[in-house]
Amino acid sequence: MIRIINSSVAQVAQVTQKVAWYAIALAVVTMLNTAAAGPKEDLDKYQGFFKQRFPELDLAGLANGMYNFSEDKRNQYNDIMEFPPYDVAVEEGKELYTTPFKNGKHYADCFAQGGEGIAQSYPKFDKGTGKVQTLAAAINECRKNNGEAPLKYLKGNLVKIQAYMAETSRGKPINIQVPDDPRAIAAYEEGKRIYFTRRGPREFACYHCHWEASGMRIRGNELSPAVGQAANFPVYRSKWGEIGSIQRRYIGCMRNIGAVPLKEQTEAMNNLEYFHTYLSNGVPMNAPNSRF
Ligand code: HEC
Repeated sequence: MIRIINSSVAQVAQVTQKVAWYAIALAVVTMLNTAAAGPKEDLDKYQGFFKQRFPELDLAGLANGMYNFSEDKRNQYNDIMEFPPYDVAVEEGKELYTTPFKNGKHYADCFAQGGEGIAQSYPKFDKGTGKVQTLAAAINECRKNNGEAPLKYLKGNLVKIQAYMAETSRGKPINIQVPDDPRAIAAYEEGKRIYFTRRGPREFACYHCHWEASGMRIRGNELSPAVGQAANFPVYRSKWGEIGSIQRRYIGCMRNIGAVPLKEQTEAMNNLEYFHTYLSNGVPMNAPNSRF
């Protein structure tokens, strides 16, 4: 049973117009019912929603997130980007990436094309395990296969390596595949379910803020649209004072709404990343990027 959105979303988002609740409830139901139609049909419908909501923004424009909705913040962002704060992380990531393991092998030996220009295809469904593999997990798997200890996932060296790999994909359209395999479809559907699931004391779903209230303000922040977000990660956040992964950002949002966050690199979290990144298919990669 899908309940209609509670009015607190509207309040915090400072929505002033009268909202037809039944229409929103209907939209949610329709959105979820397309499940049966499959990922491809979902994508047309979901991206169509944002196209209609923000006709002045193309896919690359959507990826500019909150900076689309505040000139002041956009200007601050442009100032910061005169000397992109993630540059150091990319340099360090490159150094780490190209330094051989103790056995003389390299990260490049683990990936297609030596790992260059492939970040836009992650997360990936892996036929062998029947599960979704994130780029972060693929990096650690490479280490393991070469006798090296795994790295921490949310920040630090692994994320720097990811930042370097993403840099070699800048401009390439995100291209997440959901192959016609029931296990891949199930992973996608679980990610979708998590995205639309209410959590925390105020019962917010990702959907409420980054879809339905996208472009509106919540506690002084303009809400970025779901489509395009994934194209920016990893990001250097001023708030973090360092570069961090997309799952770190998901965890932050879950904490902000008072929910117990999913743990990084669990099947549930990876499926969320799979669905969430799939939403951005076709959006040119603009990662790493910087955020407040
Ligand atoms: C109560 C509202 C709210 C909910 C619910 C919420 N977020 Fe957020 N989220 C924010 C705000 C505010 C920001 C910072 C402004 C922005 O970039 O949208 C943000 C930022 C983000 C960003 C960074 C976007 C960028 O361009 O840098 C991602 C990714 C994200 N959220 C994902 C999620 C996911 C996944 C969920 C569900 C688990 C979720 N959010 C739930 C409010 C929310």
